[in-house]
Amino acid sequence: MTMDELKRKAAACALEHVRDGMKLGLGTGSTAKHFVELLGERVRGGLTVVGVPTSEVTRADAQRCGIPLTTLDEIDRLDLTVDGADEIDPALNLIKGGGGALLREKIVAAASDRMIVIADESKWVDTLGRFPLPIEVIPFGLSATRRALEHAFAEVGASGPIKLRNGKDGHAFVTDGGHWIVDADLGRIPDAPRLAGLLSVIPGVVDHGLFIGMASLAMLAGPNGIRTVERP
Ligand code: 5RP
Repeated sequence: MTMDELKRKAAACALEHVRDGMKLGLGTGSTAKHFVELLGERVRGGLTVVGVPTSEVTRADAQRCGIPLTTLDEIDRLDLTVDGADEIDPALNLIKGGGGALLREKIVAAASDRMIVIADESKWVDTLGRFPLPIEVIPFGLSATRRALEHAFAEVGASGPIKLRNGKDGHAFVTDGGHWIVDADLGRIPDAPRLAGLLSVIPGVVDHGLFIGMASLAMLAGPNGIRTVERP
C-alpha cells in the first residue's frame, strides 16, 4: 500500500466516528484532505453535518466537496475535529504545523469536544522532536523572539537551528493569519508539555505546533491495518 492509501485508510476509519447532525472541525494537510473528500461523499449521500475548516486550503476543498461550512462565531462548540499530525507520541501529544495551519488548527481543536488524529504509522514517535517544531511568530522583532526561543529550548535541555520558513516564491511563508513561521530542528524534546508552556508566554510567539493533551484518539494506518490509540 502506498503512503497515500494508508492516509486514506486512516481517514476512512475516522469517518466511522461521524454521526448525523455533528459539528466538525476539518483539519489541514494531505491526510485531512482525504477525510474531507470522504466526508463530502457521505454528505452528497444525505449525511447532515456542518464543518469549520482550519485553513483557506481546507475551506476550498470542503466547498468543492459540498460540505456546508460555518465559523466559530456562529456556533458554540464542535463535536469532533479530525486532523493530521507531523508527529504523535504515546501520550498523544502532537507536533503540528508542517502545513502552516497550526494556529487555526489549535483554535478549532480547543473548541472541540474530541479530536481524532489520523496518520500513517511513520508519524508515531517515542519522543517528539524529530520533526522540526513549527512556531508561528510576529515578523516584528524576530531576532528578539529567536533569542527568547533559544532560552526556552535551553530550559528543557533542547537546542537546534531555528529557520525561517520560506514559501514557494522564496520569500517568508505567510500563514492564513498573516504571520511567519520558524521551524526549530531540536531532534528531541525532553519535556514537551513544559516547553509548550514556556513558548506560549514569549511575546513574539503567536502559537506553536505542540498540541498537548488535545487529541483523544489516534488512528494510525500501517501495512497490517489500523492501530487505534486512546489518550492514556
Ligand atoms: C498542517 C498540519 C498537518 O496536519 C500536518 O502537517 C500533517 O500533514 P500531512 O497529513 O500532509 O502529513 O499540521 O498544519
